[in-house]
Amino acid sequence: MTNVMKDLHRDHRNFGKVLAMLTEKLAILKGGEKTPNFALMLDAVDYLEKYADLYHHPKEDIVYSFHLKHSNVARDTIDMLMREHQDLKGITVQLRQAIDGILHGDILLKDRFIEQLAVFIKQQQNHLDTEEASIFPLLEKDLNADDWARIEKIMPTRNDPLFGDRLEKQYATLYERII
Ligand SMILES: [Fe+2]
Ligand SMILES: [Fe+2]
Repeated sequence: MTNVMKDLHRDHRNFGKVLAMLTEKLAILKGGEKTPNFALMLDAVDYLEKYADLYHHPKEDIVYSFHLKHSNVARDTIDMLMREHQDLKGITVQLRQAIDGILHGDILLKDRFIEQLAVFIKQQQNHLDTEEASIFPLLEKDLNADDWARIEKIMPTRNDPLFGDRLEKQYATLYERII
């Protein structure tokens, strides 16, 4: 497997861990007996906003655009995934703002928040699953070594602030809870 694809797969595994943590918090909320740790949820969503939306998705967009330029195979799905990158960015900002509000004293409209969190987790997970199940295998099959060399040249590199070599202070508690 190419380095680019290895990195993207690894990101997906990591996002899966973050989504699993949020799913636990969702269950706590639904249970109604305990209050979930909203500060931890904020860190998780903040991480997705800063790393997935600003770095992981743009990297995928580079690979997807390259594929679209050279092939018509799965064009509709790839177009959809690229649109979803924009949609995910939107729902991530909205969720971060909602959690931030709760932490700053906004009244928690519980049913509405549960719905918002559930939809967020589902859309994120569906997106990852579609990429893993149908598009990543296609990319690995269709693109050759030359293609990957050209793609790698224009790929940005950034340390993953949560799961990378250097853990950013801001995410230290989140890291401890997840690992
Ligand atoms: Fe994606
Ligand atoms: Fe992805």
